[in-house]
Amino acid sequence: MELTLTSPLDMHLHLRDGEMLRTVAPLSARDFAGALVMPNLVPPLTTPEDVRAYKERILDAIGEEAFTPYMTLFFLPEYDYDFLQEVKDDILAIKLYPAGITTNSEGGVENFSLDALAPTLEAMSELGIPLCVHGETNGFVMDREAEFIPIYERIAKRFPNLTIIMEHITTKEAVDALMRFENLYATITLHHLYITLDDVAGGLLRPHLFCKPIAKRPEDRMALRKVAFMAHEKVMFGSDSAPHPRSKKEAPGCAAGVFSAPIALPALAQLFEEAGVLENLQKFVSDNAQKIYGITPPAKEVKLIKEPMAVPERYGDVVPMFAGQTLAWSVDGV
Ligand code: DOR
Ligand code: ZN
Repeated sequence: MELTLTSPLDMHLHLRDGEMLRTVAPLSARDFAGALVMPNLVPPLTTPEDVRAYKERILDAIGEEAFTPYMTLFFLPEYDYDFLQEVKDDILAIKLYPAGITTNSEGGVENFSLDALAPTLEAMSELGIPLCVHGETNGFVMDREAEFIPIYERIAKRFPNLTIIMEHITTKEAVDALMRFENLYATITLHHLYITLDDVAGGLLRPHLFCKPIAKRPEDRMALRKVAFMAHEKVMFGSDSAPHPRSKKEAPGCAAGVFSAPIALPALAQLFEEAGVLENLQKFVSDNAQKIYGITPPAKEVKLIKEPMAVPERYGDVVPMFAGQTLAWSVDGV
């Protein structure tokens, strides 16, 4: 059995910088035609110059592959219309992090009152710049995403022309909210389609599956699977592949992030085939994102075949999801 995907896209990706960038970027560029690249570097990307220089480093790291890095800027409430107009052509979206909620987000938003955010959001809405959101409060870890939903609703209501992407949704509540507003969309990761909290902490602790938002309950995973498997037009694939070196994961204070980019397409094919919905994978990994963002990625055919993929124990110093295991599908010719 085989499946050819046209221009697969990963609409939420962490590529890091320096040596890590050179390790991980070629792995995404091999399997995908493009990716939305997150801005949470140290320091975060907050100027057009930062974004342009980082894009050059990404292009340098991937070499000849047909792969478009779609760039993002780190949301700051002080961005005004003139600034956004200047940066608009260098980015596809702006990513909003609550302050301190995850890796390198310390400079994020502290005050979610609409008064504080309105000028920037108004300008983004007028200029047609989508807003990507890490939607978690700093409440109890299992409730953080559900608690953030009223904030999504307030923004969605006040700015009906602003495209808002609920990033890496993990709960039934988020799926429900998504359906209530025309201007809300969402990315769904591979790991949240596969795992629940039990896989992370139900037996021996599995640090390589620890991420933010944390994986939730079986009924949440079911709600995510439902909309992903039908390739609902409001959802698209975003891996949130977030590499950390082993020393940061296999440590008393484990960094959040699952590294899934190099196994994402085979693992998705396996999951969609098992669910009997392989024909919907093209929409989930490309067509929906093209419509939501209005982008045309480079033409690239990626052929998947139902032949075993032995997942490496490591890529460089990073342990991937499914390390040492065998997946039922592989990318042909890689
Ligand atoms: O698990 C995560 N890792 N979640 C995030 O939101 C950020 C990411 C990272 O950058 O490591
Ligand atoms: Zn992320």
